[in-house]
Amino acid sequence: MRLILLGPPGSGKGTQGVLLSQYFGIPQISTGDIFRKAVAENTPLGKKVKEYMDRGELVPDELVVEIVKERITQEDCKNGYILDGFPRTVKQAEMFENMGGKIDAVLYIYAPDEEVIKRISGRRTCEKCGAVYNVYFNPPKIEGICDKCGGKLVQRDDDKEEVVRNRLEVYKEKTKPLIEYYKKRNILKEIDGVGSVEEIFERILKNLKVS
Ligand code: AP5
Repeated sequence: MRLILLGPPGSGKGTQGVLLSQYFGIPQISTGDIFRKAVAENTPLGKKVKEYMDRGELVPDELVVEIVKERITQEDCKNGYILDGFPRTVKQAEMFENMGGKIDAVLYIYAPDEEVIKRISGRRTCEKCGAVYNVYFNPPKIEGICDKCGGKLVQRDDDKEEVVRNRLEVYKEKTKPLIEYYKKRNILKEIDGVGSVEEIFERILKNLKVS
C-alpha cells in the first residue's frame, strides 16, 4: 500500500499516519519530521531548511524530492509507505511521478481553520521520542512529561500563532491545488477530519475498503 496524507497543518496527518503505519506495517515518512530532526541536530540539511521552516514557508522542491527519493528506495519501503506531508506542491507531485514514484491512494483529510488552529495551539511533542500530545484533546498523564518515555514535552517552533497563520496561507496557495491534481487521477479519497482520532481512522479504513 502506497499512500499520501494530504491536508492543512493540524488536520491530523501525523496522528493518522502513526496508526496507518502500525495497521499496514509500512513506514510513515514525514518530511516535516525529517527536517525537524536535521534542524535539531544542526546538520548541513538542517542549516539549509531552518529559515524556511521558521517562517512557515515551504522548503525548495528539489531539496524535498531528493530526500524522498532516497528514503523510498530503502529496504523497509519495499511493501509500501505513507508519505506524510509530501508532495506539497504540484511541482513536487510531478517530479515524484516523473521519477517513477507510485501511489495507490491520496487521503485528503479536511478540517476548518478554527479547528486546526486550536489543535496546533494545544500540540506538544516529546523532545526525546517524538510522541505527539494535545493539551485540549489528548493530554499526557503528567503535565509536560511524555507518558511513553518520560521525556520533556515542548511546543514546536513553527506552532507560534503568526507562523501558523502563514502556514495556512501557504497551504491554501501552494498545496490545495493538489486536490484537483489527484482527483483527475482518480485516487483522491476525501476524509472528514473532524471527530475523534479513532472515528477518523475508521473513516480512512472504510474509504480504503480494508475494514
Ligand atoms: P509538517 O511537519 O508536515 O507540518 P504540517 O503539514 O503543517 O502538519 P502538522 O504537523 O502541523 O499537522 P498534522 O496534520 O500532522 O497534525 P497532527 O497529527 O500533528 O511541516 C512542517 C514544515 O516543514 C513546513 O512548514 C515546511 O517548512 C517543511 N516541509 C515539510 N514537508 C515539506 C514539503 N513536502 N515541501 C516543502 N516543505 C516541507 O495533529 C495536530 C494536533 O492535533 C496534535 O496535537 C494532535 O494530538 C491533535 N489531533 C490530531 N487529531 C485530532 C483529532 N481528531 N481531534 C483532536 N485533536 C487531534
